[in-house]
Amino acid sequence: MYSIPLFDLNYDDQEELAVQETLRSKWISAGPRTAEFESDFAGMLSVKHALAMANCTVALHLAVKLLEIGPGDEVICPSLTFVATANAIRYVDAVPVFCDITSLDDLTLNTALFEKLLTAKTKAIMVMHYGGFACNMNEVVSFARKHNLRIIEDACHGPSTTYHGQALGTIGDVGCFSFFSNKNISTGEGGMLVTNDDVLAAKAKLLRSHGMTTMSYDRSRGHSTSYDVVSPGYNYRMDDLRASLGIVQLKKLPGEVVKRAEIRKQYISLLGDHPGMIIPFRNYDEYCTNYIFPVILKDSDFVKRDAVREQLHAAGIQTSVHYPPVHKFEIYRSSGHTLPLTEYAADNLITLPMYSKLLPEQVKFIASTLLSLV
Ligand SMILES: Cc1ncc(COP(=O)(O)O)c(C=O)c1O
Repeated sequence: MYSIPLFDLNYDDQEELAVQETLRSKWISAGPRTAEFESDFAGMLSVKHALAMANCTVALHLAVKLLEIGPGDEVICPSLTFVATANAIRYVDAVPVFCDITSLDDLTLNTALFEKLLTAKTKAIMVMHYGGFACNMNEVVSFARKHNLRIIEDACHGPSTTYHGQALGTIGDVGCFSFFSNKNISTGEGGMLVTNDDVLAAKAKLLRSHGMTTMSYDRSRGHSTSYDVVSPGYNYRMDDLRASLGIVQLKKLPGEVVKRAEIRKQYISLLGDHPGMIIPFRNYDEYCTNYIFPVILKDSDFVKRDAVREQLHAAGIQTSVHYPPVHKFEIYRSSGHTLPLTEYAADNLITLPMYSKLLPEQVKFIASTLLSLV
């Protein structure tokens, strides 16, 4: 066990009470709590439709299906991301075309490379807002418009981050969020699909629930007595137990974001301008969830980075690497992509602890331990 974990839940009595109330209501699968969570989430993002899902991976799968991406179609996507981003493209036998990051400061997609990756088969761009820091969406949108491409936003790291005032996930055609336990909003497992498009939302609602025209909850209320099945859908639903956690977590989010911003500021001030280290997104100044706090070692390699990580672990500080590059995993290796900046970042990046309960003295200890090692 680490004395300072990478992440910690911000749960208290409110989550316990919310789950207890849902249990006592005797309706625990998708129902009124899920509807309330969706409505709260849509309100926070100022988006027309928010559909709660079992997790973000299935939301991404539906996003790809909704946009009618299919066998042989190509989707430009990042490699410096969690593997689910690319796997969702593979679920429909489409091809992920990996794009490098912009720089060691901006770890999101380099839009200047899109032109080179474009082919007659390119159908969409799947962006991932790394750490909750927005991709250059002006460029993404203008490229997509020019070439008639759809946009999916993997906004798992940024529920409520804005880009030029607009919430991440609401800029492209479909946005997807995760509420896995280590995310800014934690429900254990859980996700959300958002869109402003009525047709896509109706289609997503059907696909989420077996292609059925009514839900169990509607039938229990007497709103209908039977159902038809109009497409071969899935069971990708969230349940009311998780949704009741989500409702509380959503209320906590603004306070959580403020605390994380303070921690980030403290890290940056303590780590200073160390010549051996880059703090990505250092000068980012828009409202941001600060899902993680990564640093990248300069003039380094993975052997040196791993040695630094081991010493941090020995000091009781848990670290991680966001992320091992997807194009280097066995299932994607044969694609033959070379992404120099992604590879350097992945080999030399250390993700430091970041969560709202992290104390100033703990941040001080982490920073001074790291500085003594680089
Ligand atoms: C960027 C990114 N995409 C997708 C996912 C998948 O989310 P979930 O675990 O909810 O399926 C995650 C979660 O770890 C993620 O960080």
